[in-house]
Amino acid sequence: MRKQQNFKWNTLSLGTCYYPEHWDESLWKEDLKRMLAHGIQTIRIGEFAWSKVEPREGEFTFEFFDRFLEVAAQTEIKVIFGTPTATPPAWLTNAYPEVLNCRMDGVKFRHGMRRHYNYNSPIYQKFCKRIVEKFGEHYAKHPSVIGWQIDNEINCEVDEFYSESDTLAFREFLKEKYKTLDALNQAWGAVFWNQEYTHWEEIYVPRTTIHNSTNPHQTLDYIRFVSDSAVRFCKMQSDILRKYVKPGDFITTNGMFQNLDNHRMTDEALDVYTYDSYPNFAYCLCEDPKHSKNLNDRRWSDKLTEVRSICPHFGIMEQQSGANGWNTRMEAPAPKPGQMMLWAMQSIAHGADYVSFFRWRTCTFGTEIYWHGILDYDNRDNRKLAEVKRIYDRVQAIQETAGAENQAAVAVVKDYSNIWDAKVDVWHQRLAWSSEEEIFLASQVNHTPMDYVYLLDSTEVEELTRYRVLIYPHGLILSERKAALLKAYVEEGGCLILGARTGQKDENGKCVMMPMPGLLAEVTGSDVREFTFVGPADDKVNMNWNGILLDTGIFNDILEPIGSNAKVLAEYAGNYYKGQPALIENPYGNGKVLHFGGTFTQENVKALLEYVGVLKPYCDILELPKDCEITAKEKEGRTYIFVLNYVEEPQEIFIKRAVKDMDTKEQVQGKICLGAYETKVYEL
Ligand code: GAL
Repeated sequence: MRKQQNFKWNTLSLGTCYYPEHWDESLWKEDLKRMLAHGIQTIRIGEFAWSKVEPREGEFTFEFFDRFLEVAAQTEIKVIFGTPTATPPAWLTNAYPEVLNCRMDGVKFRHGMRRHYNYNSPIYQKFCKRIVEKFGEHYAKHPSVIGWQIDNEINCEVDEFYSESDTLAFREFLKEKYKTLDALNQAWGAVFWNQEYTHWEEIYVPRTTIHNSTNPHQTLDYIRFVSDSAVRFCKMQSDILRKYVKPGDFITTNGMFQNLDNHRMTDEALDVYTYDSYPNFAYCLCEDPKHSKNLNDRRWSDKLTEVRSICPHFGIMEQQSGANGWNTRMEAPAPKPGQMMLWAMQSIAHGADYVSFFRWRTCTFGTEIYWHGILDYDNRDNRKLAEVKRIYDRVQAIQETAGAENQAAVAVVKDYSNIWDAKVDVWHQRLAWSSEEEIFLASQVNHTPMDYVYLLDSTEVEELTRYRVLIYPHGLILSERKAALLKAYVEEGGCLILGARTGQKDENGKCVMMPMPGLLAEVTGSDVREFTFVGPADDKVNMNWNGILLDTGIFNDILEPIGSNAKVLAEYAGNYYKGQPALIENPYGNGKVLHFGGTFTQENVKALLEYVGVLKPYCDILELPKDCEITAKEKEGRTYIFVLNYVEEPQEIFIKRAVKDMDTKEQVQGKICLGAYETKVYEL
């Protein structure tokens, strides 16, 4: 069973990110008072301010933040203090260049940006331990301090590490894991292309190769190593802070980034997880063309759903409050009137109890001059500040929803081996990313709240049986343990939906020599005879399910029933395997498995969810247009429904029986119109 989170906010509250070092001290008091007047009661400070405390190696001075905390105490603003390790100072990187991270070809990243360090340099660890100790020892007892943020956005900007220290640490990681080189050579299939190692010193973190094609099994272990390094770096800091943190105060870090087991980091090092939510990336002008435009800012609900799987009651450490941009990258417009409220409500609807806006005022210098805060450079009151106050008033009206549990009948199963294998293996990636997107879209447009649930070392079947339906889209990598958990889930009455390529690989990412779905074949009562990508020339391949044609996506496993009770529900209606099974249902224990040979699309997910009886769980209570999202939360026997309109056009919803509008406290029913970006919260 996963560890329960140590800390929960017991009310909904607002905060902002403040950088005392960016402003003249004469502004501090006025700023904090103005925050309070607009409903902001907490600030985060300090996370990049190493040289304010250690301006030269070994010289410590605490006056700057002492003076600031005095102002915080006078104004009664609460403070989350950051450890400053994301920005080692110039004196440090200059004297000890081995603390710097490197590109894959070994060239060092130089001073001038942030997160330029590596986690494994013993020298960097020594300096970090000392500065964290100094911060904790001096500031944690201050009555205004209520919590700590470790570093800033671990694995943001760079999530690959290629320094000398990383290679040395990677070897130790591998020695611990494999004990012998024989075992490592075996696990990595090193006989392929003469990669067999005869000395540990021959092993490096992946290095530049032709096409940058590295051994996939090595790279999978390398990602595990990066994650392990990041978690250990975070834990190193929290172990120090623990000595000083006052009872009731918390330790967090702000995420959520890649090549990182965020669940393990939370369980081992944090009391609560926080997330940085920037939905306006959806409108970025210079965006990565691979990034999906589907649903725009509503896509952040997918990320928030993921955050909820890490920590059910989380905080937003940075909630967008202005246009985005650095001087070197990213250009996104300002939130339109109402969007700050919408995005704050989106966070709350998905499980956030604390929402902190980034940042109080836009910086007038540095890389982030276009990363706008609530206030602009001119420091005048503006419509964003007024909107913050409206958010505060709104939050008071829905205070009783604080700490409520999000509800979902269906969850998508994930695990880190498969997420990371999909980064290494483009075949896997194509399937995994496409299905994840389509399942999310299907759940959104069909108003079917969903969760993510991770198969972790600590996961027990009770964490799965909370859901009537689980979809494990493409569990290529199966282990005995994961298969046993899923089997137990079905035995206890769960309904498991599996997609193409389930059971193709082992935990090293090597293909297994058994028919798919491998370790799950007993539960699925089915087998995979053959498989293929749906090539561009094939257009699309439908399956025929009771006379209805449904697209089977981009990859097809051609199935065969093998269990005596296995029943073919649908057959492929095209390509050379026309008439062969595409979807097989098998009863097992008290539950059942649907083994689907394709990848998921909005339409087939809708049909599957309808078939298993979890589509649109609130349709008896309200009808919604497609541009509105619905989430549901429960607390002490009461259910709260959040309805969010993501578009400028008014949206009409229809409430079929009287419910309480949490803002007006009145019973409402019938047609209700939500204006531009408007949100509603109802108690059933
Ligand atoms: C976040 C980061 C902040 C700030 C902001 C705008 O990723 O945590 O420190 O940099 O983005 O770039």
